[in-house]
Amino acid sequence: MGMSEPRAKASPFLNTLDGFAQPTPPLWMMRQAGRYLPEYREVRAKAGDFLTLCYNPEMAAEVTLQPIRRFGFDAAIIFSDILVVPHALGVDVRFEAGEGPRLETITTRDRIDNLRQLLDPAKVQPVYEAITRVAGELPDETALIGFCGAPWTVATYMVAGRGTDDQGPARMMALKDPDLFDALMDRLVEASIRHLGAQIDAGADAVQIFDTWAGVLDPEMFERWCIRPLRQIVNGLRQTHRNARIIAFPRGATLEALEQIADLKLNGIGIDWTVDRKAAKARLGDKVAIQGNLDPLRLIAGGPQLEEQILNIRRDFEGIPHIMNLGHGIKPETPIAHVEKLVEKAREKL
Ligand code: CP3
Repeated sequence: MGMSEPRAKASPFLNTLDGFAQPTPPLWMMRQAGRYLPEYREVRAKAGDFLTLCYNPEMAAEVTLQPIRRFGFDAAIIFSDILVVPHALGVDVRFEAGEGPRLETITTRDRIDNLRQLLDPAKVQPVYEAITRVAGELPDETALIGFCGAPWTVATYMVAGRGTDDQGPARMMALKDPDLFDALMDRLVEASIRHLGAQIDAGADAVQIFDTWAGVLDPEMFERWCIRPLRQIVNGLRQTHRNARIIAFPRGATLEALEQIADLKLNGIGIDWTVDRKAAKARLGDKVAIQGNLDPLRLIAGGPQLEEQILNIRRDFEGIPHIMNLGHGIKPETPIAHVEKLVEKAREKL
C-alpha cells in the first residue's frame, strides 16, 4: 500500500486506502448520484439528455454534491460515465431514454486505427472542470473519486454497440482475432491512463477502475484482458502520478482472480456481494483495502436483514482497512430511508 503515514487532511476514506483501518468504516455508494434521488431527477430533467448532464460542469458538480449534502458520505464520485472515454476517442455514443447506451460499433482494424490519438478536449475538459469545482466545495474530510471503465468493460460496449447479456460480441472478437482486440485494448489502456491522470490533476484524491464485466472471462482471458491492462494502467499512471490511489472493481471475479489483482499493488479492491468475506479478508486483507460488499437488493428490501447484513460486513472486516459500499451500483427504486439506515448502521459503535 502507498504511503507510510496518514495524510494531514483527516479523511477516513483516504486513510483507509493508505492502509490504516478506521474505528468505523468510511462509506460511499457506487452510483450514489442518480435516479433514486428526487433532486437528481430534477436536474436530470432540466438537462434533458444524460450526456448533456455529463458535459455540463456546473450541473455535473451539483449532482455529485447532492448525495454528500444529504447523507454526508466520506467520498464523492464525480458524476460522469465510463462511455465518455470512447466518446472522446471519436466514437458516436448516445443514450436512448429507457434503453441504455447505443454506440457506433468498433470492430475493424481501420476503425480502431482511426480512433483519436488524444482524448477530445470538448468531451473531457468539462469532466475535469466539474472535478475542480467539486474539490473546491467538498468538506475537508470528504474525498473525491475520479474514475474510468476498465478497457475490457469499455470494449464490450464498443464492440457490441450496446449493453449485452453475456458480452458475447467482445468475447467472440477477442477469441477470433486476439491481435486486433489487443489493438483496441492498447488504445483504451493509453486513454485510461491519460483520463485518470488528468482527473487527479484536476483535484481527484483517488481513482476507481470499473471492470463491471470481468466476471464473464475464463482464467486465460481474465489474465490477458483484465489483469494485463489493469497492470499497464497502474504502472502507467504511477509513472506520472507516483502516489496515485487506485481502486479496482472487478465485478464477478473469483477469489483467485481478486488475489492476482491485489498483487498489482493498488490501494483498494471492490468486491461484489457473492464474494465470501472471511476468505476475502484472509487472502486480500493484508494487501489492499477491501471495499464493499452489500447486495444492492438488500438495500431495497430493507428491514431486519439489512441491519444484520451491515453489521455482518463490519464484523467480518473488523481490524483491516475496509470501505463500506455496495457490491454494485445502487438501483433507482431504492428507498431513501434505507440509505439513511445504512449510514446510521455503518457508523454506530459496535
Ligand atoms: O457512481 C456515480 O454516482 C458516478 C456516476 C456513474 C454513472 N455511471 C452515472 C450514470 C458511474 C461511476 C457510472 C459507471 C458506469 N457506466 C458503468 C460501470 C459501473 C456499473 O454500474 O456497472 C457502466 C457499465 C456504465 C455504462 C452505462 N451508463 C449504462 C449501461 C447505463 C444505462 C443503465 C442505467 O443504469 O441507466 C448508463 C447510464 C447512467 N450512468 C446513469 C447514471 C446516473 C443513468 C442515466 C440517467 O440518469 O438517465
